[in-house]
Amino acid sequence: MNTKQQRLSNKACIVTGGARGLGRAIAELFIEQGAQVLITDIDADALSKTASEIGAGFAVQDVCDEEQWSNIVKHCQDKFGGLDVLVSNAGLAGIGDGVSPEDTSLSSWRRTFSVNVEGVFLGCRAVIPAMRKNGGGSIINMSSVASMTPTPFLTAYGASKAAVAHLSTSIALHGAPDRIRCNSVHPGQVQTDMHNDLVADAAAIAGAPLSEVQDGFEARIPFGEFGLSEDIANMVLFLASDESRYVTGAQMVVDGGMQLIN
Ligand SMILES: NC(=O)c1ccc[n+]([C@@H]2O[C@H](COP(=O)([O-])OP(=O)(O)OC[C@H]3O[C@@H](n4cnc5c(N)ncnc54)[C@H](O)[C@@H]3O)[C@@H](O)[C@H]2O)c1
Repeated sequence: MNTKQQRLSNKACIVTGGARGLGRAIAELFIEQGAQVLITDIDADALSKTASEIGAGFAVQDVCDEEQWSNIVKHCQDKFGGLDVLVSNAGLAGIGDGVSPEDTSLSSWRRTFSVNVEGVFLGCRAVIPAMRKNGGGSIINMSSVASMTPTPFLTAYGASKAAVAHLSTSIALHGAPDRIRCNSVHPGQVQTDMHNDLVADAAAIAGAPLSEVQDGFEARIPFGEFGLSEDIANMVLFLASDESRYVTGAQMVVDGGMQLIN
């Protein structure tokens, strides 16, 4: 591999929710690009399997657990000698237990916000001192195109992802003097476990065949196709690399044009 391809050479990175889906794709690409990567996830079995398949370090973590965050940062510093990049990717859609504003239970709302918002806040707060010590760093928070458009079919999810986008701008301004950058990434639709569950849920609610509902989701994307995990990973790679050294507080949409039609 030539040096031009090593866009994250020797950067120490944490990717949450790294056991599968977008987190796994991001971690894999980071490693290809020369990074040292610690993946974390609440699903211990899938996490250790993925870590050995892609050559990452791993640590079981519930991103909602405040105390675990300092251990994760220390783990990364001890293993890799510092911390340059945090990708707060772990998240859940909060489906299966009420989705419209009227039938969303308070417990489902709180669970969604706990993982999608508090987990991201705790991550930002935990890594800032370590990045400051390092002379700067890049925080990338996974939001969604759902943060930009009303989502009465996924009420708590859309609101939680809007909170992530706003939080990221506050972190960006706070971190700017120390060259700690913070940006949010807003995927459209990528066929991961989360997305497959969402489509299955929509099909069950509509009483329609799964393939029909899936085709309907895809047809509403201006590009006419779902995104690939690699499409999201490539944006995250740019934000993690020094190529984006002057980019902070930005909301990077990767959605095949979805936000244009809502
Ligand atoms: N797939 C899409 O179309 C899409 C679109 C927009 C945004 N996103 C966002 O991208 C991120 C990744 O989504 P995905 O599609 O890969 O989902 P996924 O469900 O396939 O993977 C999410 C991972 O996060 C982990 N996780 C969940 N709760 C956790 C917790 N409390 N602590 C630690 N780990 C936890 C899960 O175990 C899982 O491995 C999420 O934040 C999601 O909201 C996805």
